[in-house]
Amino acid sequence: MKSLTLVLPLVAMSVLLSPLDNAGAADTVSEAVYGKMPDGAEARVFTLTNANGMEAKVTEYGAILVSITVADKDGNFADVTHGYDTLEGWLTNTSYFGATVGRFGNRIANGKFTLEGKEYNLATNNDPGGIPCALHGGIKGFDKVLWKGESFENDTDRGVKLTYVSADGEEGYPGTLTTVVTYTLTDDDELIWEASATTDAPTVLNVVHHSYWNLSGDATTSINDHELTLYADHYLPTDAGLIPTGEVAPVAGTPMDFTTAHVIGARVEEDFEALKLGAGYDHAWVLSGEKDGDLTKAARLKDPETGRVMTIATNQPAIQFYGGNFLDGTVEGKGGVAYQHRSALCLETENYPDAPNNPKAPPAVLKPGETYYHKMIHAFSAE
Ligand code: BGC
Repeated sequence: MKSLTLVLPLVAMSVLLSPLDNAGAADTVSEAVYGKMPDGAEARVFTLTNANGMEAKVTEYGAILVSITVADKDGNFADVTHGYDTLEGWLTNTSYFGATVGRFGNRIANGKFTLEGKEYNLATNNDPGGIPCALHGGIKGFDKVLWKGESFENDTDRGVKLTYVSADGEEGYPGTLTTVVTYTLTDDDELIWEASATTDAPTVLNVVHHSYWNLSGDATTSINDHELTLYADHYLPTDAGLIPTGEVAPVAGTPMDFTTAHVIGARVEEDFEALKLGAGYDHAWVLSGEKDGDLTKAARLKDPETGRVMTIATNQPAIQFYGGNFLDGTVEGKGGVAYQHRSALCLETENYPDAPNNPKAPPAVLKPGETYYHKMIHAFSAE
């Protein structure tokens, strides 16, 4: 009897309090065990839900964006990213779907760079055009390690903060690097990805978010129909190994000109050297969009069929637009769909590829006492 009298007021109180809770963003982050790593460690998945019904899932494995649902012009929600249904699937991810890539996202020529007079050798895990390079942080980069996640929420935002400490010498890079990545889903339908890092010895880095987008919400379709705008007057031509040559070339008059919206597939097969070398679009554009404080307008992507739009703003100097040219139907992802050629694209804000070897690139060096900071805002809407 006694315990019942104590319980009843508590139940009544929680009923009274719940409408207040719902007015804010309370209870809009949940977490669950996603699965086990090969060594038995648990990886969790965090689900972020905003006031408009958007849902983003983020896992501690690879600080990966597992999925994000976005409404089309009729209010129908669908996941607009490639990936896997389970942690076991993600453990096979060699395409960097949804991942946080690092330490150095994109390519480093020959897997070599010199820092303060010392040469460093990285694994060469990629060889476009038969030319070896280091890609996306190495054999076991940031996309393949277990991060430590912690959720947060306030009235209008909710998210997850993920931390990873990369040991001195890991994947050949110097310095103990502590990286914190946050994903925030706002009630303005923005997904904000941020990375900050500190080191105990000079190192190089370029931490990059690597989601594959198909705004139709149907991963069996081609992104060749999507309309893309890149707020960039110049791009970086590459050699056959997809390493920038050092030239900063104007886009005007070329199929690389996305300063106004263009259907991606309209020019991708043109007889243009950069497109031949990249097997399609796979280049860095130097951003020259409108500024808002530290942020530069970088890209606008639209699926004309569903009306879904994604815009990207960043504090980084460049954006890699990769048109999914290496997808070839061999990877089976969410719902058993075999991801075909150009069924998704990446828009990766970053420093220049191979920046440590390119004197014309913005510096990619981080020293003790400094903080690296990369911000990327994806804003979703439909029209
Ligand atoms: C690169 C592609 C590469 C892909 C790997 C992109 O960032 O630009 O060349 O094949 O990552 O998934």
